[in-house]
Order: sequence, then structure tokens, then C-alpha cells
Amino acid sequence: MGGGSSNSQALRLGLWFRYWFGQRLAPYHGTPPHVARRMLQLARVNAADRVVDLGCGDARLLIAAAKHHGAHGYGVELDSDLFQAGVRSVQEEGLAHMITLEQRDAFTVDLSTATVVVLYLTVKGNSKLYPRLVQQLPVGARVVSFCWPFENLEPSSKTKADGIDVFLYEFNKVR
Ligand SMILES: C[S@@+](CC[C@H](N)C(=O)[O-])C[C@H]1O[C@@H](n2cnc3c(N)ncnc32)[C@H](O)[C@@H]1O
Repeated sequence: MGGGSSNSQALRLGLWFRYWFGQRLAPYHGTPPHVARRMLQLARVNAADRVVDLGCGDARLLIAAAKHHGAHGYGVELDSDLFQAGVRSVQEEGLAHMITLEQRDAFTVDLSTATVVVLYLTVKGNSKLYPRLVQQLPVGARVVSFCWPFENLEPSSKTKADGIDVFLYEFNKVR
């Protein structure tokens, strides 16, 4: 019993450390399904795409990309419960051959083969990831962000879902 309580204290401390040292880019909130559809349309996702979700939660964006656009997906999630929920959903949807999930930090992902990156983080989270996105994404990759823009960057296009902005960026249109 005592072990359980000290375990949960250790877990809480661990989460705080992640915030303090900037590993956690955003708290969890799942993208509503119709917003997911709007994001994927704005990014022109198609069957040739490899969609990456940095902080994929329960993998709903990747599931929508695979189901409705035929795109392969890769997602990473720090939180183990959300990661497990994502793995279960992908299996339940019969999409394990199209979507790969890993429980790991978004900062460790190799983005060189991503053609679309989907984000629902924060302005600060986007800013932290920006250098990696610019350095690693191939020419022509699209980055779609629900709710939060990249600071001081003009999106290549923009729409609204539920009255909330959805931003599209094409950082590496040409090199
Ligand atoms: C607002 S939620 C969005 C979830 C999902 N992309 C969606 O749209 O439904 C942000 C997610 O990012 C995860 N996250 C935050 N920092 C992360 C990091 N450094 N690496 C991986 N996942 C992270 C959080 O645990 C949370 O599940």
C-alpha cells in the first residue's frame, strides 16, 4: 500500500520534471473528429502521404488520415495510457498495417520521411519543434496545426473549424 502511494508520488514528480525541463509540449485534449477532417483536407492528405503526429494522444488524427485518405501514419506519445489507448484503437480499426505508434518523445523523431505533420500542441510547443521541422522535413512537406500558429510565421493557408483557426505551413517549399 505504502509502495503504491510512493509510486504515484514518483509519477507526479516525473511529470513535473518533464514540464520543468520542457519535454512536455502540451496537455492532452483530443481533436474533435470534424476538426480532424478539416485539418487533413487543408493539408491535402492523400494515399501517397506519410502523416506524422507529434503528440498523437489516442491516435485519432492518424486513424482519420488512414481511414478517409488512405495515408500511412506514424505517431509518438509520451503518456503511457494515451499511447496504449492509441494502440488499442488502431488495432480495433484494423489499421495496424498502416499506422505505427511509439511511446517516445517528439524531440527524438526523425522527420526526414514525413510528408505531412499534424500538430495540436501550443504556441510554445510549436516554437520548440520548429527548428527540427525546418531542418528535417523534405521539400514539399506540409505542417498543419490546430488552434496554435507558429510565432512570426505567415501560414500558407488558414481555415476555421468550430470557429477556431487551423493553420497550414509549407516551410520547405523550396530549399
Ligand atoms: C493537445 S493533445 C493532442 C493529441 C492528438 N494529437 C489529437 O489531436 O487528438 C497533445 C498531446 O501531446 C502529447 N505530448 C506532449 N509533449 C510531448 C512530447 N514531448 N512527446 C510526445 N508527446 C507529447 C501530450 O501527452 C498530449 O497527448
